[in-house]
Amino acid sequence: MSLLQTTTARPAVRPATRPWSDDPFAEAMRTGRGPLWLRRADGGRHQLDVERWCAPPDAADRSLLLRCLATGHPVLDIGCGPGRLVTELLARGLPALGVDITRAAVLRTRRLGGAALCRSVFDPLPGEGRWGTALLADGNLGIGGDPTALLARTAELLAPGGMLLAEVEPGEADERLTVRVEDATGWCGPPFRWARLDATAAARCAAEAGLTECERWTVRGRAFVALRR
Ligand SMILES: C[S@@+](CC[C@H](N)C(=O)[O-])C[C@H]1O[C@@H](n2cnc3c(N)ncnc32)[C@H](O)[C@@H]1O
Repeated sequence: MSLLQTTTARPAVRPATRPWSDDPFAEAMRTGRGPLWLRRADGGRHQLDVERWCAPPDAADRSLLLRCLATGHPVLDIGCGPGRLVTELLARGLPALGVDITRAAVLRTRRLGGAALCRSVFDPLPGEGRWGTALLADGNLGIGGDPTALLARTAELLAPGGMLLAEVEPGEADERLTVRVEDATGWCGPPFRWARLDATAAARCAAEAGLTECERWTVRGRAFVALRR
């Protein structure tokens, strides 16, 4: 191969090493625009609602925010993305902190006036065992691909009697899968483990993790459960 060929050769896909923080999701957090999908190993895909996440809270989000405000306790938003929930809670006077592994999402949250740390939920976090409320919104029960482990970690973060508000799949779902974030150009990030759970599957994993279901509700096609430590 000639030197010219070597220096002008380009990889077919842009290199990406870390899911979320170094793939099309990070780029979407910079631009605020989708579309993006979670591409499954079996070829199927699930849309990621980037534009909704970058917009002000909608009616379903408000159903979460009202429950946070009703308790009046500090809120930890796990996988906060661009931070619409954290920002709104702080604007309404409730202490709230987002955590997210994607730096571009954390920066976007801070630009909106929210507070967020660039850290994994499985890393040491401030206030462990003292959070009154935790959020896993927008499918974040899937983080790590092992919902029982994620729920057990969340239980550790909560104060005794603390509450987790989690979004679940509105249809029947109880699956562990390998996915990649993909954009409209076909650019795919690296594979990672994910999970999709409906309310019944979430309640079962929650019980294994020491959390008790106390409420289920749906708003405009989005479904949620409340779980208490
Ligand atoms: C499905 S998106 C949900 C986005 C979000 N709730 C919003 O409003 O944009 C998943 C989010 O979780 C974050 N994430 C993935 N793994 C994480 C981890 N181990 N700890 C914290 N955040 C994580 C991603 O960076 C991404 O922002």
